[in-house]
Amino acid sequence: MDSPSQLPGFLESCQRRIEAVLSAEIEQCDASYSLREAMAYACLGGGKRIRPVLVYGANRALDGNLADADPAAAAVELIHSYSLVHDDLPAIDDDDLRRGKASVHKAFDEAVAILAGDALQSLAFAVLAEPSRSHAAATQLRQIQVLAAAVGANGMVGGQCLDCCATGSESSLQALEALHRLKTGALIRASVLLGAHSAESATDQQLADFQLYADCIGLAFQIQDDILDVTADTASLGKPQGSDQHNDKTTYVSLLGLEQAQSKASELTGQAISALARCGSEADLLRELATFITSRAR
Ligand code: IPE
Ligand code: IPE
Ligand code: MG
Ligand code: MG
Ligand code: MG
Repeated sequence: MDSPSQLPGFLESCQRRIEAVLSAEIEQCDASYSLREAMAYACLGGGKRIRPVLVYGANRALDGNLADADPAAAAVELIHSYSLVHDDLPAIDDDDLRRGKASVHKAFDEAVAILAGDALQSLAFAVLAEPSRSHAAATQLRQIQVLAAAVGANGMVGGQCLDCCATGSESSLQALEALHRLKTGALIRASVLLGAHSAESATDQQLADFQLYADCIGLAFQIQDDILDVTADTASLGKPQGSDQHNDKTTYVSLLGLEQAQSKASELTGQAISALARCGSEADLLRELATFITSRAR
């Protein structure tokens, strides 16, 4: 018989944990009132927190100490929150609803939204670089390099740029896969790797296995996001359903149709789980997370 799922309890405890870490970081942030308000609005009290959960899950899979993963977990969620603020701007997807409330540029204004996103991004790197009692400086430097590479021109921002350029024009499946791997996959991969580094004990083989796992779930995550844009509703998503079609985006669903997009996502889930074949039961949370990513309803 399968062992009972650890995931619901783990999700809840990680969500509580990251909320506390993020609110402490933002509270300490020495910014003007409206800027700090907008930063808090953008990243507190909402979202599934999948990226921090992946950081903690990878740390746990290597028998790490969860507290050592807090800076990395906060950093990836700060980057993610910034990416959502900018993604919703009129110049990008022009979406007015995010995480069940008005997007930052609607609740504040465009200038504050742009600047709050910028500030969340630099806070992410500041958090990762804070002097640490548990990590060697070389480990922190490695984490900073991994995150910087994942979110810049050759990662998330590069993918967002391709996404904006591709809007309105047909693109091939190969081009779309490359775009998805950058705009969404890169930060998900970094989350898993940062979590592995936070445990300090990862071998090269484990890092390679985790990387393959992360590449599969990263692409699967965006395919499921494309699917939900068609199949879910605005109230459960907390963001406008149909945004992709409205913006004439090429997605897995528009290129392959719903059924094939769903089977591609399940195939990637299977590959992600297979990538962990060398790991024991300590990686069960990561296995469950792979399944969760493509079965989630929001
Ligand atoms: C939405 O990410 C943007 C994508 C990269 C697809 P999430 O679905 O993780 O959004 P939140 O954090 O739960 O709001
Ligand atoms: C955004 O992809 C990915 C980011 C890097 C923010 P989407 O534009 O599909 O994300 P949603 O659907 O607005 O959350
Ligand atoms: Mg977008
Ligand atoms: Mg969007
Ligand atoms: Mg989307």
